[in-house]
Amino acid sequence: MIFGDQRLLRLVYVSAAAPTLLRNDLIEIGRTAQRNNGSLRVTGMLLHVEGEFFQVLEGPGAAVEEVFSKICEDDRNEWVTPLLRERPLRRVFRTWTMGCFDLPFEELPRDLFFRADWDEVRLRIKADRRQEFYGFLERFYRVNLQFGRAAMT
Ligand SMILES: Cc1cc2nc3c(=O)[nH]c(=O)nc-3n(C[C@H](O)[C@H](O)[C@H](O)COP(=O)(O)O)c2cc1C
Repeated sequence: MIFGDQRLLRLVYVSAAAPTLLRNDLIEIGRTAQRNNGSLRVTGMLLHVEGEFFQVLEGPGAAVEEVFSKICEDDRNEWVTPLLRERPLRRVFRTWTMGCFDLPFEELPRDLFFRADWDEVRLRIKADRRQEFYGFLERFYRVNLQFGRAAMT
């Protein structure tokens, strides 16, 4: 348990994977995330798409910020760019200590958010398109519910 802010926080960011990153590093990141997040009551999803990461972290504010600051310092990724910090009423990824997915671009859900590059994703997360963003998160969780427990799918 980390003291401090216990209110539910959702933090979404994108980053670039280090050029030297291997598949084994992804598996290791997934295992570490699931191990640590469980005891911190942090849930979420981590998507690796051809050299880019997209992650959603949900949990008590202080724990989420603690995990995020470690990720920012981790040289397995760079250009960490927060897209959103908000106070949701409830979690989307309720049962995933971290649902980890390594997908080629073509296998991404045929969804508004992934037809475009990350700059576009960032634009769409802005308030006017926020409902579409939540729709994507909810759908991603529902469709992949059975896969999200493995360290890396
Ligand atoms: C893209 C990415 C996502 C990560 N996600 C998490 C995470 O959700 N939870 C976590 O504890 N560590 C995560 N990590 C690993 C942390 O940066 C750090 O290595 C780890 O928390 C250290 O854990 P340890 O102190 O148990 O060794 C992530 C790393 C990367 C590169």
